[in-house]
Amino acid sequence: MVRSGFEPWRPDRSPSLPGVPRVIAHRGASRDAPENTLAAFRLAHAQGARMVELDARLAADGELVVIHDSTLERTTDGRGRVIEATSGALARLDAGSWCGAAYRGEPLPTLARALGLLVELGMGVNVELKADPGEAERTGQAAGRLLREAWPGAGPPLLVSSFAEAALEAVAEVAPELPRALLREEAGADWREALARLGCTTLHLGAEHLAGDTLEALVAAGVPVLVYTVDDPARARALLDAGCRAVFSDLPGRMAEALGEAPTAAQ
Ligand code: G3P
Ligand code: MG
Repeated sequence: MVRSGFEPWRPDRSPSLPGVPRVIAHRGASRDAPENTLAAFRLAHAQGARMVELDARLAADGELVVIHDSTLERTTDGRGRVIEATSGALARLDAGSWCGAAYRGEPLPTLARALGLLVELGMGVNVELKADPGEAERTGQAAGRLLREAWPGAGPPLLVSSFAEAALEAVAEVAPELPRALLREEAGADWREALARLGCTTLHLGAEHLAGDTLEALVAAGVPVLVYTVDDPARARALLDAGCRAVFSDLPGRMAEALGEAPTAAQ
């Protein structure tokens, strides 16, 4: 059953998204800790964040792992493509040292492990599905199966997003009750049709190209718009004042503090 407040958007129904805060930690507290690691999620929690966004993609053995890029070089000490490495091999990589010696040995987490931590911390999650060409369907199926099992239906909020529409379609087939988010750099002329066709609850857009009149039309239509990546508090305030539902920030603690959100711990 679809959770109340997370039903797909329709012109006559604006999802209220209970429990979704106005600031979501983008890849965890990713300015201060290595992105998409358990350390970054723990730090986001310590900074007062109540929800994180993370990127998940398939490993060679069909397990979903948490990493942004399709290749390992930027954020780990490994080499090559994630899709060609088993989750066992990925688990032995260091995904922290690139961000500083304090994070040496920080593992590249499986999505299952990351979800386990977030459940423990009582944090909401936006799982963004990344898919190499040709892998979107398998990625969505794996995510639908895992999230259905691993995420408590009545706990903190969950949104599953992707730039890949085929991944969202696969999620909808496997686990139709999971709230889906269409992720685009720009809304595009077909946003109404796309949201309806995919049964999406929210629309996630890039801050860079978000025009005022587009946002106005989306807000007037009751579409919850979540915007990435916003690290300037003045810009975040303007977006939220204009009706955006939330912003994704690499600096969740400082952003929430600047916006007068829930009290935060030391940065
Ligand atoms: O989910 C919002 C945002 O994370 C999308 O872009 O490249 O940071 O994953 P990216
Ligand atoms: Mg992302």
